[in-house]
Amino acid sequence: MVTATGTPYSHQTEEHWEQFLQARYDPAREKDGFRSFTLDAHPSVVEFYRLNHAQQTYAFGLAKREEYLGLNRRRMGIWEGLEYLNQLVDDSDPDTDLSQVDHAVQSAESARRDGQPRWFQLTALIHDLGKVLCLWGEPQWAVVGDTFPVGCAWDKSIVYHDFFAANPDTADPRFQTPAGVYEPGCGLRNVMLSWGHDEYLYQVVKNYLPEEALYMIRYHSFYPWHREGAYTHLMDSKDHEMLPWVRRFNPYDLYSKSDSKPDLAVCRPYYQELIAEYFPPLLNW
Ligand SMILES: [Fe+2]
Ligand SMILES: [Fe+2]
Repeated sequence: MVTATGTPYSHQTEEHWEQFLQARYDPAREKDGFRSFTLDAHPSVVEFYRLNHAQQTYAFGLAKREEYLGLNRRRMGIWEGLEYLNQLVDDSDPDTDLSQVDHAVQSAESARRDGQPRWFQLTALIHDLGKVLCLWGEPQWAVVGDTFPVGCAWDKSIVYHDFFAANPDTADPRFQTPAGVYEPGCGLRNVMLSWGHDEYLYQVVKNYLPEEALYMIRYHSFYPWHREGAYTHLMDSKDHEMLPWVRRFNPYDLYSKSDSKPDLAVCRPYYQELIAEYFPPLLNW
Protein backbone atom coordinates (compact mmCIF):
# COMPACT_ATOMS: atom_id res chain seq x y z
CA MET A 1 0.00 0.00 0.00
CA VAL A 2 0.95 3.64 -0.24
CA THR A 3 0.43 5.58 2.96
CA ALA A 4 -1.29 8.94 3.25
CA THR A 5 1.90 10.82 2.53
CA GLY A 6 2.93 8.67 -0.37
CA THR A 7 5.51 6.50 1.40
CA PRO A 8 5.51 2.95 0.17
CA TYR A 9 5.03 0.35 2.85
CA SER A 10 5.93 -3.18 1.93
CA HIS A 11 4.54 -5.98 4.02
CA GLN A 12 6.71 -8.29 1.95
CA THR A 13 9.89 -6.55 3.00
CA GLU A 14 8.81 -6.85 6.60
CA GLU A 15 8.01 -10.54 6.16
CA HIS A 16 11.37 -11.15 4.53
CA TRP A 17 13.08 -9.31 7.34
CA GLU A 18 11.30 -11.45 9.93
CA GLN A 19 12.23 -14.64 8.09
CA PHE A 20 15.78 -13.32 8.06
CA LEU A 21 15.69 -12.82 11.84
CA GLN A 22 14.21 -16.25 12.44
CA ALA A 23 16.95 -17.87 10.41
CA ARG A 24 19.64 -15.68 11.98
CA TYR A 25 18.61 -16.65 15.49
CA ASP A 26 17.66 -20.23 14.75
CA PRO A 27 19.28 -22.25 17.59
CA ALA A 28 20.08 -24.96 15.03
CA ARG A 29 22.08 -22.56 12.86
CA GLU A 30 25.68 -23.59 12.37
CA LYS A 31 28.18 -21.43 14.19
CA ASP A 32 29.94 -20.33 11.03
CA GLY A 33 26.77 -20.27 8.95
CA PHE A 34 26.28 -16.56 9.29
CA ARG A 35 28.45 -15.31 6.47
CA SER A 36 26.82 -17.30 3.68
CA PHE A 37 23.55 -16.66 5.38
CA THR A 38 23.73 -12.87 4.96
CA LEU A 39 24.78 -13.35 1.35
CA ASP A 40 21.62 -15.39 0.81
CA ALA A 41 19.30 -12.78 2.30
CA HIS A 42 16.43 -11.56 0.16
CA PRO A 43 17.40 -8.45 -1.86
CA SER A 44 14.69 -6.38 -0.19
CA VAL A 45 16.23 -7.17 3.21
CA VAL A 46 19.68 -6.14 2.04
CA GLU A 47 18.28 -2.93 0.62
CA PHE A 48 16.38 -2.33 3.83
CA TYR A 49 19.57 -2.55 5.91
CA ARG A 50 21.48 -0.42 3.43
CA LEU A 51 18.99 2.42 3.79
CA ASN A 52 18.68 1.98 7.53
CA HIS A 53 22.41 1.95 8.32
CA ALA A 54 23.18 4.90 6.07
CA GLN A 55 20.49 7.18 7.47
CA GLN A 56 19.99 6.36 11.16
CA THR A 57 22.31 9.03 12.50
CA TYR A 58 22.51 10.70 15.90
CA ALA A 59 20.96 13.85 14.42
CA PHE A 60 18.16 11.85 12.82
CA GLY A 61 17.36 10.23 16.17
CA LEU A 62 17.13 13.62 17.85
CA ALA A 63 15.00 15.09 15.06
CA LYS A 64 12.47 12.24 15.11
CA ARG A 65 12.09 12.49 18.87
CA GLU A 66 11.46 16.18 18.50
CA GLU A 67 8.95 15.54 15.73
CA TYR A 68 6.93 12.79 17.41
CA LEU A 69 7.33 12.85 21.15
CA GLY A 70 5.05 15.80 21.72
CA LEU A 71 2.41 13.07 21.19
CA ASN A 72 -0.01 15.50 19.62
CA ARG A 73 -0.97 13.63 16.45
CA ARG A 74 -3.99 11.69 17.52
CA ARG A 75 -6.08 10.63 20.50
CA MET A 76 -6.71 6.95 20.20
CA GLY A 77 -7.45 3.89 22.34
CA ILE A 78 -5.35 0.72 22.19
CA TRP A 79 -7.83 -1.46 20.29
CA GLU A 80 -8.55 1.41 17.94
CA GLY A 81 -4.80 1.62 17.39
CA LEU A 82 -4.70 -2.04 16.40
CA GLU A 83 -7.51 -1.51 13.92
CA TYR A 84 -5.87 1.63 12.60
CA LEU A 85 -2.60 -0.22 12.14
CA ASN A 86 -4.42 -2.85 10.16
CA GLN A 87 -4.40 -0.49 7.20
CA LEU A 88 -0.81 -1.66 6.85
CA VAL A 89 -1.51 -4.62 4.61
CA ASP A 90 0.17 -4.95 1.32
CA ASP A 91 -2.10 -5.95 -1.54
CA SER A 92 0.86 -7.03 -3.63
CA ASP A 93 1.68 -9.90 -1.33
CA PRO A 94 -0.53 -12.93 -2.07
CA ASP A 95 1.37 -15.24 0.28
CA THR A 96 0.31 -13.72 3.53
CA ASP A 97 -3.12 -12.98 4.83
CA LEU A 98 -1.93 -12.24 8.32
CA SER A 99 -2.72 -8.68 9.26
CA GLN A 100 -0.99 -6.62 11.94
CA VAL A 101 -3.88 -7.38 14.32
CA ASP A 102 -3.41 -11.08 13.63
CA HIS A 103 0.27 -10.87 14.57
CA ALA A 104 -0.64 -8.93 17.71
CA VAL A 105 -3.30 -11.41 18.80
CA GLN A 106 -1.22 -14.47 17.86
CA SER A 107 1.62 -13.18 19.93
CA ALA A 108 -0.70 -12.45 22.89
CA GLU A 109 -2.53 -15.78 22.60
CA SER A 110 0.76 -17.58 22.62
CA ALA A 111 1.74 -15.81 25.87
CA ARG A 112 -1.69 -16.55 27.32
CA ARG A 113 -1.43 -20.26 26.48
CA ASP A 114 1.92 -20.39 28.27
CA GLY A 115 0.40 -18.90 31.40
CA GLN A 116 2.36 -15.65 31.22
CA PRO A 117 1.04 -12.88 33.49
CA ARG A 118 -1.74 -10.66 32.21
CA TRP A 119 0.53 -7.63 31.75
CA PHE A 120 2.83 -9.84 29.65
CA GLN A 121 -0.06 -10.92 27.43
CA LEU A 122 -1.07 -7.29 27.02
CA THR A 123 2.50 -6.35 26.13
CA ALA A 124 2.57 -9.03 23.46
CA LEU A 125 -0.69 -7.68 22.09
CA ILE A 126 0.49 -4.10 21.77
CA HIS A 127 4.26 -4.44 21.18
CA ASP A 128 4.15 -3.41 17.51
CA LEU A 129 1.60 -0.59 17.75
CA GLY A 130 4.37 1.93 17.22
CA LYS A 131 4.30 0.92 13.56
CA VAL A 132 1.56 3.50 13.11
CA LEU A 133 4.59 5.64 12.25
CA CYS A 134 4.39 4.04 8.80
CA LEU A 135 0.91 5.48 8.38
CA TRP A 136 2.25 8.92 9.17
CA GLY A 137 4.72 8.84 6.36
CA GLU A 138 7.83 7.37 7.94
CA PRO A 139 9.79 5.12 5.61
CA GLN A 140 10.09 1.51 6.62
CA TRP A 141 13.80 1.81 7.51
CA ALA A 142 12.83 4.38 10.18
CA VAL A 143 10.11 2.22 11.74
CA VAL A 144 11.14 -1.43 11.79
CA GLY A 145 14.35 -3.46 11.75
CA ASP A 146 16.91 -4.13 14.47
CA THR A 147 17.73 -1.10 16.57
CA PHE A 148 21.17 -0.03 17.84
CA PRO A 149 22.62 2.88 19.83
CA VAL A 150 23.53 6.02 17.93
CA GLY A 151 26.15 8.44 19.23
CA CYS A 152 28.71 5.71 19.88
CA ALA A 153 30.57 3.08 17.87
CA TRP A 154 28.40 0.50 16.11
CA ASP A 155 29.04 -2.93 17.54
CA LYS A 156 30.42 -5.51 15.14
CA SER A 157 27.49 -7.80 15.86
CA ILE A 158 25.06 -5.46 14.09
CA VAL A 159 24.02 -7.20 10.93
CA TYR A 160 25.41 -5.70 7.67
CA HIS A 161 27.85 -3.63 9.68
CA ASP A 162 29.65 -2.64 6.45
CA PHE A 163 26.70 -0.47 5.44
CA PHE A 164 27.58 1.95 8.23
CA ALA A 165 30.39 3.20 6.01
CA ALA A 166 27.77 5.36 4.30
CA ASN A 167 26.51 6.83 7.58
CA PRO A 168 27.61 10.47 8.10
CA ASP A 169 28.30 9.74 11.80
CA THR A 170 31.38 7.86 10.64
CA ALA A 171 33.02 11.24 10.10
CA ASP A 172 32.38 12.45 13.66
CA PRO A 173 35.05 11.18 16.08
CA ARG A 174 32.77 11.89 19.08
CA PHE A 175 30.56 9.04 17.91
CA GLN A 176 33.27 6.53 17.15
CA THR A 177 34.46 5.41 20.59
CA PRO A 178 32.81 2.49 22.43
CA ALA A 179 30.88 4.78 24.80
CA GLY A 180 30.74 7.76 22.42
CA VAL A 181 28.71 10.63 23.87
CA TYR A 182 27.62 8.47 26.84
CA GLU A 183 29.18 7.59 30.18
CA PRO A 184 30.09 3.93 30.60
CA GLY A 185 27.51 2.26 32.86
CA CYS A 186 25.05 5.11 32.37
CA GLY A 187 22.11 2.78 31.73
CA LEU A 188 20.22 2.27 28.49
CA ARG A 189 17.64 4.85 29.48
CA ASN A 190 20.34 7.45 28.87
CA VAL A 191 21.33 6.02 25.50
CA MET A 192 19.57 7.02 22.29
CA LEU A 193 18.76 4.11 20.02
CA SER A 194 18.09 4.32 16.30
CA TRP A 195 14.57 5.62 15.73
CA GLY A 196 11.74 3.15 15.29
CA HIS A 197 8.47 1.70 16.54
CA ASP A 198 9.91 0.44 19.85
CA GLU A 199 10.86 3.84 21.24
CA TYR A 200 7.74 5.51 19.95
CA LEU A 201 5.33 3.05 21.59
CA TYR A 202 7.37 3.11 24.80
CA GLN A 203 6.81 6.85 25.02
CA VAL A 204 3.06 6.48 24.40
CA VAL A 205 2.47 3.80 27.06
CA LYS A 206 5.22 4.50 29.62
CA ASN A 207 2.84 5.67 32.36
CA TYR A 208 0.60 2.63 32.27
CA LEU A 209 2.56 -0.62 32.36
CA PRO A 210 5.00 -2.36 34.72
CA GLU A 211 8.70 -1.73 34.23
CA GLU A 212 9.30 -5.21 32.78
CA ALA A 213 6.67 -4.58 30.10
CA LEU A 214 8.19 -1.23 29.23
CA TYR A 215 11.61 -2.82 28.73
CA MET A 216 10.07 -5.49 26.51
CA ILE A 217 8.43 -2.83 24.37
CA ARG A 218 11.33 -0.40 24.25
CA TYR A 219 14.03 -2.94 23.44
CA HIS A 220 12.33 -5.79 21.59
CA SER A 221 14.12 -4.87 18.32
CA PHE A 222 17.46 -4.26 20.03
CA TYR A 223 18.85 -7.60 18.84
CA PRO A 224 22.53 -6.57 19.21
CA TRP A 225 21.83 -6.26 22.95
CA HIS A 226 19.32 -8.96 23.82
CA ARG A 227 20.55 -11.64 21.41
CA GLU A 228 24.18 -10.77 20.70
CA GLY A 229 25.14 -9.60 24.19
CA ALA A 230 26.67 -6.33 22.95
CA TYR A 231 26.73 -2.92 24.68
CA THR A 232 27.17 -4.28 28.20
CA HIS A 233 29.50 -1.33 28.87
CA LEU A 234 26.51 1.03 28.69
CA MET A 235 24.25 -1.02 30.95
CA ASP A 236 23.42 -0.28 34.57
CA SER A 237 22.07 -2.62 37.23
CA LYS A 238 18.48 -2.00 36.17
CA ASP A 239 19.25 -3.08 32.61
CA HIS A 240 20.85 -6.27 33.91
CA GLU A 241 17.78 -6.93 36.02
CA MET A 242 15.39 -6.39 33.08
CA LEU A 243 17.30 -8.12 30.27
CA PRO A 244 15.87 -11.57 31.06
CA TRP A 245 12.36 -10.18 30.49
CA VAL A 246 13.28 -8.79 27.09
CA ARG A 247 14.72 -12.20 26.23
CA ARG A 248 11.66 -13.99 27.55
CA PHE A 249 9.46 -11.92 25.31
CA ASN A 250 11.40 -12.48 22.08
CA PRO A 251 10.01 -15.94 21.14
CA TYR A 252 6.46 -14.59 21.31
CA ASP A 253 7.40 -11.97 18.75
CA LEU A 254 9.52 -14.11 16.48
CA TYR A 255 7.95 -17.53 16.50
CA SER A 256 4.21 -17.10 17.01
CA LYS A 257 3.50 -16.34 13.36
CA SER A 258 3.39 -20.00 12.48
CA ASP A 259 0.37 -20.43 14.74
CA SER A 260 -3.05 -20.57 13.13
CA LYS A 261 -4.90 -17.38 12.33
CA PRO A 262 -6.71 -16.22 15.49
CA ASP A 263 -10.47 -15.92 15.62
CA LEU A 264 -10.87 -12.27 16.51
CA ALA A 265 -14.58 -12.56 17.27
CA VAL A 266 -13.71 -15.03 20.03
CA CYS A 267 -10.57 -13.29 21.39
CA ARG A 268 -11.64 -9.71 21.22
CA PRO A 269 -13.73 -9.40 24.43
CA TYR A 270 -10.89 -10.94 26.46
CA TYR A 271 -8.37 -8.45 25.13
CA GLN A 272 -10.65 -5.47 25.38
CA GLU A 273 -11.11 -6.22 29.05
CA LEU A 274 -7.36 -6.65 29.48
CA ILE A 275 -6.70 -3.33 27.76
CA ALA A 276 -9.24 -1.57 30.01
CA GLU A 277 -7.49 -3.01 33.08
CA TYR A 278 -4.32 -1.03 32.31
CA PHE A 279 -5.15 1.80 29.92
CA PRO A 280 -7.51 4.77 29.83
CA PRO A 281 -10.00 4.79 26.91
CA LEU A 282 -7.87 7.26 24.95
CA LEU A 283 -4.12 7.88 24.80
CA ASN A 284 -2.02 10.59 23.21
CA TRP A 285 -0.15 9.50 20.08
FE1 LIG B 1 8.35 -5.02 16.57
FE1 LIG C 1 6.37 -8.03 16.39
